[in-house]
Amino acid sequence: MLLASRARRRVAPQPALHSNAMARLSRRQFLAAAGAAGAGFALAGCGGSGAPRPVSPSGPAVVAAEQRRRRPGARVHDVAVTAAPLAVDLGALRADTWGYDGAVPGRELRLRAGDVLRARFTNGLPEPTTIHWHGVGLRNDMDGVPGLTQPLVQPGQSFTYEFTAPDPGTFWFHPHTGLHLDRGLYAPLIVEDPAEPGAYDREYTVMLDDWSDGIGQSAEASLDDLRAGRGAHAAHLAGGEGPMSEFLGSAGGDVNYPLYLINGRRPSAPVELEARPGERLRLRLVNAGADTPFRVAVGGHRMTVTHTDGFPVEQVTVDNLMIAMAERYDVIVTVNGSGVFPLVAVAEAKAAQAMAVIRSGPGDVPGPGSQPAELRGATLSLDDLHAARSVRFPDRRPDRVYGVELGGGEEGYVWTINGRPHDDEPLAVREGERVRLAFVNRTTMFHPMHLHGHTFEVMLASGAPGPRKDTTIVRPDQRLTVDFVADNPGQWMLHCHNVFHQVGGMMTTVSYVADDPGGGSEAAAADRARLYCEWLGKGLSTA
Ligand code: C2O
Ligand code: CU
Repeated sequence: MLLASRARRRVAPQPALHSNAMARLSRRQFLAAAGAAGAGFALAGCGGSGAPRPVSPSGPAVVAAEQRRRRPGARVHDVAVTAAPLAVDLGALRADTWGYDGAVPGRELRLRAGDVLRARFTNGLPEPTTIHWHGVGLRNDMDGVPGLTQPLVQPGQSFTYEFTAPDPGTFWFHPHTGLHLDRGLYAPLIVEDPAEPGAYDREYTVMLDDWSDGIGQSAEASLDDLRAGRGAHAAHLAGGEGPMSEFLGSAGGDVNYPLYLINGRRPSAPVELEARPGERLRLRLVNAGADTPFRVAVGGHRMTVTHTDGFPVEQVTVDNLMIAMAERYDVIVTVNGSGVFPLVAVAEAKAAQAMAVIRSGPGDVPGPGSQPAELRGATLSLDDLHAARSVRFPDRRPDRVYGVELGGGEEGYVWTINGRPHDDEPLAVREGERVRLAFVNRTTMFHPMHLHGHTFEVMLASGAPGPRKDTTIVRPDQRLTVDFVADNPGQWMLHCHNVFHQVGGMMTTVSYVADDPGGGSEAAAADRARLYCEWLGKGLSTA
């Protein structure tokens, strides 16, 4: 109680919601409304029959959707990706960790929109894992969620991911197992736009990360602490120890890390991004952290935001921006003369930072604690962002609305969606529908909520359509509404991208269902029922 009122005091008043009546309904009303529309959707239970069945991750609907994306003569990129233990140099500091293809971040994969990626993945780790291609509207059985869309890839085994990448943008890939993401297992996936206006001279991908692996406590030990009520999260719960973020209305995260990195380097030995005076640099910012939102700024420069989670927006220029876990922002910076400029990513409310430098001339590298004035200038707000016309959804009323209530985080570090950890009551949708998710955050933490296989359009406080995103921050006490078009059949995770919250239960499924069990063979029907029931039974796809 005390805690809730403390959090409420710290939260900037939210503007009157949106005109949408659904958003004003209580949770019970939400669920009732959703249930009324979805009464026929109650899953009959495993082995049952009669109710609509979940669309199989590899069934005919999924194959048909992939065929619609596949262009004749599409270029196929054959690549090998290996996950393995390795030693990395974080900048005169060695750490033993796990990574992709011998580096952290892993080697960038680059395609053009419409191309096919055929990635033969080999698991050289001592534990089973998978790859999730974050943000890509791909075929469901290539989405890399173990137990839901594919079996785990065992140590020493391989799995070939093959899919069309339909949309251009800045994406990335990472494991979808346990806390693997908190190691060095992440890499960029860049999909170029054949119609790119090319209003920049050079580009860099800038991957931010919170780091402890091999130098501090393991992620597993941090989770044990959280569950036992120890650590930064517990201190916040106990009554306001530690810094709070004005922007997020909450603590910055639940774990304090010994280091924060940009492109695998600590701030005392930063990566240098070469540039020429006057050049327009496109920076593809990716937050690969497990628990840390970053405030990003470039000393002596403003940033023009061009894309959110890969999709173009009407451009807006700011001094700094907040990027939560798994979000991406593409920005353009016009290099201001000859010099050495700090690119700083402050771990929000954690009193530490990551740094790289942009070098366009001779000069000393700024100190690791450099705090450019731009950090205190104008911050990008969600309400500044509008999807570019080319990627707006047609104006249409939703066919289906779900309340998605985010809860938990106290006793035992259990996190919930609609009151249940590892929610086993999927949000059922039918192909072709316009679906609205109305998030309500009942916790004292912010949550970057991510939907697989789709991007949604965020509704702004004014009720106007905002940016296209696949991951968006929901602050404490905030209600936030997003719409998506159900055009990619399958079984898709919806979860918080704080990896500790995710493993702690803040996850559910958006489940396409078909009246027709799929038209596939008996074997295919049995297969989909088995996968789905395994997932329901396990309730958690982390092992
Ligand atoms: Cu990058 Cu399920 O997430
Ligand atoms: Cu969360």
